[in-house]
Amino acid sequence: MDKVKIIITEDGSHSLYHEGLKETYHSFHGALQESIHVFIEKGLRFWRTKSGLPKQVDIFEVGFGTGLNALLAAQFAMDNEVRINFTTIEPFPLDMEIIDQLNYATSIGQEDLKTVFKQLHSSEWEEKIEINPFFSIHKTKSKLEEFQIEQRFDVLFFDAFAPSKQAELWTADLLQKCFNLLKEGGVFTTYSAKGQLKRDLKALGFEVETLPGPPGKKEMVRGIVN
Ligand SMILES: C[S@@+](CC[C@H](N)C(=O)[O-])C[C@H]1O[C@@H](n2cnc3c(N)ncnc32)[C@H](O)[C@@H]1O
Repeated sequence: MDKVKIIITEDGSHSLYHEGLKETYHSFHGALQESIHVFIEKGLRFWRTKSGLPKQVDIFEVGFGTGLNALLAAQFAMDNEVRINFTTIEPFPLDMEIIDQLNYATSIGQEDLKTVFKQLHSSEWEEKIEINPFFSIHKTKSKLEEFQIEQRFDVLFFDAFAPSKQAELWTADLLQKCFNLLKEGGVFTTYSAKGQLKRDLKALGFEVETLPGPPGKKEMVRGIVN
């Protein structure tokens, strides 16, 4: 694992700076705001609303990292009394020493989420773990390139490092893999709004939408499997 350094983003929530890539794990304009906007509101809530508010959602995430998206999905599950099965991959898990310093429960304004956050990180890898009646997590130490699973998902959080830093994760081949991981009506959501990404998603058969981005970012992209 390359060295990472904790930083405070503009909404007061933490993120990490990856010294090898010279890249942050979230938007400098606000990690919490970005995750809520891109993944929870434009991904999870959008899919659930358009699907008639089903009581179960299967989510797949590329890049578990700090676990912020998983924590917000767990909060959503508990608040809405929806069952969420969260499957995530991460080839470079962070040290607990870093995790223990992250201020996400406090930034969200819900101290009781500290326990959930700790559970998400301390839960075993390579196994589906029930965190509570509304939320399970299945973490796999794998790269997207090598990951194999039979299951299909309703929502896919594509949270890789930026295309300028990790171009190998934004190729048409791996986007095809993401398309194949989704069920019909499934939603792919990401913070990037690159023209090439939009063209590739369209060519794969996604219905592509360019949406307003989180604070400080003009646009983001969502793809729907129709
Ligand atoms: C932009 S960070 C976001 C992480 C996380 N969602 C968060 O909120 O902290 C990208 C993550 O992708 C992980 N990653 C790097 N290479 C990867 C690969 N080949 N496949 C899947 N994930 C990868 C990184 O280690 C990092 O944790």
